[in-house]
Amino acid sequence: MHALPTRLLALTAFILGIVASPVSHHPDWSKVFIKLLPTSGFGSGCPPPDSVNPTLGPNGAWLNLAFYKYFAEVYPGSKPSENYKNCQLQFEVHFPPGWSLTLFKTTFTGRFTLDEGVNATQEATYHFGGNPQATATFICDGDSMGPWTGPRKGRYSCLDELLVGKYIWSSCKGTFETLFIETSIELDNSDNKGGSGFINTESSETATQQFELLWKPC
Ligand SMILES: *[C@@H]1O[C@H](CO)[C@@H](O)[C@H](O)[C@H]1NC(C)=O
Repeated sequence: MHALPTRLLALTAFILGIVASPVSHHPDWSKVFIKLLPTSGFGSGCPPPDSVNPTLGPNGAWLNLAFYKYFAEVYPGSKPSENYKNCQLQFEVHFPPGWSLTLFKTTFTGRFTLDEGVNATQEATYHFGGNPQATATFICDGDSMGPWTGPRKGRYSCLDELLVGKYIWSSCKGTFETLFIETSIELDNSDNKGGSGFINTESSETATQQFELLWKPC
């Protein structure tokens, strides 16, 4: 099914003398939109009202989450509720029947200050309503081997991409699909109990949580 368009594109690219880009399949963009369900927005990282703003990028290429009250801190005597913040969101993604989508890549940006031995981790897990058992998790921790560890200070940016075989696809029924995303940030000073840390993923700091989407016909 993919062979013919690929060959056509390659041929076109050859004729035009340009570098062939990957074949892109996508639904009619005018029929693609996203709605944040008013019943969602649970969690200490997105207290109601209006502490999160989702945006779907042009051509349904990405979903961006801007937060306004999303930070965590740890210090001697801090409470677990200060060390860990989360946000559970529920969306309706509307798109034409015959298409399926996945979130395959994420970029988290923000700002942190971590004393020596203080660790920070940022995560996002998602699944679709039509397939609740299949979940995927993006983990941002400085590198793939473990958490960000202080001393560190300044802005951070982290990109995590799922392996191709780990993509979670939405159902194919079209009209709309429910998308659940839970994100969290966590600080841990158990390796240096006198240490402190702060992490902020608020858009007032021009931080974002952006998920890149891929579409396929089905
Ligand atoms: C903090 O991160 C370091 C480096 O990844 C790791 O060795 C250590 O076990 C982590 N500490 C805790 C308490 O998770």
